[in-house]
Amino acid sequence: MLDLSDARRVMERCDILGGISEQSDCLTRRFATAAMREANTAVAGWMRDAGMGVRQDSVGNLIGRYEACDGGARTLLLGSHLDTVRDAGRYDGPLGVLVALALVERLRARGQRLLFALDVVAFADEEGLRYHTSYLGSCALAGAFDPADLQREDEDGIAMSAAIRDFGGDPAAISRDKRDPDTALAYCEVHIEQGPVLEHRGLPVGVVSTIMGQSRFDVEFVGEAGHAGTVPMDLRRDALCAAAEFVLAVEGLARADAGLVATVGQLVVGPGASNVIPGRATFSLDARHLDDAARDRACDALHKRAISIGARRGVAVEWREVQTSVTTACAPELSAQLSRAIEVVGYEAMSLPSGAGHDAVAMSALAPVAMLFVRCKGGVSHNPAESVAVEDVGVALDVMDAFLAKLVDPYNLTVDSK
Ligand code: GLV
Ligand code: MN
Ligand code: MN
Repeated sequence: MLDLSDARRVMERCDILGGISEQSDCLTRRFATAAMREANTAVAGWMRDAGMGVRQDSVGNLIGRYEACDGGARTLLLGSHLDTVRDAGRYDGPLGVLVALALVERLRARGQRLLFALDVVAFADEEGLRYHTSYLGSCALAGAFDPADLQREDEDGIAMSAAIRDFGGDPAAISRDKRDPDTALAYCEVHIEQGPVLEHRGLPVGVVSTIMGQSRFDVEFVGEAGHAGTVPMDLRRDALCAAAEFVLAVEGLARADAGLVATVGQLVVGPGASNVIPGRATFSLDARHLDDAARDRACDALHKRAISIGARRGVAVEWREVQTSVTTACAPELSAQLSRAIEVVGYEAMSLPSGAGHDAVAMSALAPVAMLFVRCKGGVSHNPAESVAVEDVGVALDVMDAFLAKLVDPYNLTVDSK
């Protein structure tokens, strides 16, 4: 019978982290906040209990190290992120960190060390909720952190550099978070699928083939605030009406292209009173496509559409690109090994693309990457109803265990049992 005790512990820890939030009524844990500190403290404690050396790097990533049997530098990196979206589910990110930690606990219980070290990384920011830029933690490890981002301000006007300092990090030393590519063997991430494909196929896990590229923009429409009772409809320069027209244009364009998904997920209206014509509408735009050129074309078309809507309505448009990441392929050989591990555990190895972004995107600049998806209920994610089955987490653990056992072969490494 399947032993689910490790999987149950992972679920219990997801529940504990799910209760660590900036908001009392829902789960929100942004980069470098007190809630993130509390989450890091909890995970650091579990890492220490698992016999790992623990440190927090300059950007705020938490790293637990399970040394190689020869104490050598070569390292397999495992992990995911601990930050969340607003009103989040409890598995997006933490599941990958806690499965990696449980793997180390298994090795330790068996008295095993590998001939390469395992670093379990709890990335500080993947979602980009606080500063709108995603992958801050993994970019730092991969040496791709952009120091210009340190000037970005959150909604309370707190600069990223100040937030990092307050979190115990050192903005000036983030370049030193970069890992040595010669010793980083690979990066492997377990993550909930966040979509319905595995559930439809009746499979507990799957292997990620590619991660969809994405572009994020901050857009501002500026019209003229005025009195809701006195300004005739044809004399208004209503920024929200312009934004509303644009939002529907985004939906229309994406519906017309089967490969494109595009979302306005955040909208702030100013001044913001029932009897004032909106003078300002500030919103986000997120556009994704597996084909980078098609995504670029869609973003250009949307920019032009924003300008034409603005021109017709007397509304000025400010269009700022926040971040673009290209579509990223997982490493074929490493992914093939994950597939073999799934078959060893007794399941069909399905390969599927990811519409969600992951730390593996940034980490692919450092080392080969592979990802294991875990089925999630109804494909629901970025939603407190996010749910995974303990049995599927058990399968993910067994697959990763089998993967680690096989991984020693291509690198001509052996397992040392003490
Ligand atoms: C992360 O969850 C993203 O895809 O935005
Ligand atoms: Mn997410
Ligand atoms: Mn995630």
